[in-house]
Amino acid sequence: MTKVIAIVNQKGGVAKTTTAINVGAGLAKHGKRVLLIDLDGQGNLSRGLGCKAKGRSQYTIRDALINIQMGIPTALDKGILKARFDPVCVMPCSKQIDAFALSLKEDPNRHVYLRRYVNTVRQYFDYILIDCSPSLGVMTQNALVAADSVMIPVDPEFFGTDGVEQIIATMTDVQSQMKMRTAFCRLVL
Ligand SMILES: Nc1ncnc2c1ncn2[C@@H]1O[C@H](COP(=O)(O)OP(=O)(O)OP(=O)(O)O)[C@@H](O)[C@H]1O
Ligand SMILES: [Mg+2]
Repeated sequence: MTKVIAIVNQKGGVAKTTTAINVGAGLAKHGKRVLLIDLDGQGNLSRGLGCKAKGRSQYTIRDALINIQMGIPTALDKGILKARFDPVCVMPCSKQIDAFALSLKEDPNRHVYLRRYVNTVRQYFDYILIDCSPSLGVMTQNALVAADSVMIPVDPEFFGTDGVEQIIATMTDVQSQMKMRTAFCRLVL
């Protein structure tokens, strides 16, 4: 069964991207089929694996999420690239994702688009790793909803563990919001 792991910490520079790339490469070396999803407008993961978005026209995770949001049928493998150095697949990201995240403010389904995307491609992979931006905003919340588990790289310094408490609080918030929404959907149906 596919494992979906979000790599999360709102603190910057704690090695989220480095962890995603290296854990992904390690799993691939053990014969696992790995998809790395770059969910950070900085595009570090995409660049690190030789898959940096070349321009506005390149299909990225933002386009995949928009197509899901708009209900536009799309080839399941659209936009997924082969990394240059490691036998892993990459769904790249560019800074345009930030405007998309802002546009979701009033969208009642804003937390579920990545989960829907992941559900369309999970059959092709053993592991899907999601590299989040240094934020607990709507895109990271999407990652928390999509993931089965969460990996939190922490810098072992004085304020490092404060950040972990905030992440756990966000996870609890998202879990309770999703439960409310599921309950609401059941009521409507
Ligand atoms: N184990 C390590 N030892 C020393 N340096 C490391 C280690 N892992 C990562 N780094 C360095 O730390 C820096 C930050 O790493 P990285 O970009 O992976 O962090 P990040 O959490 O993804 O950052 P951001 O929040 O900006 O996305 C990089 O320069 C990276 O080379
Ligand atoms: Mg990063």
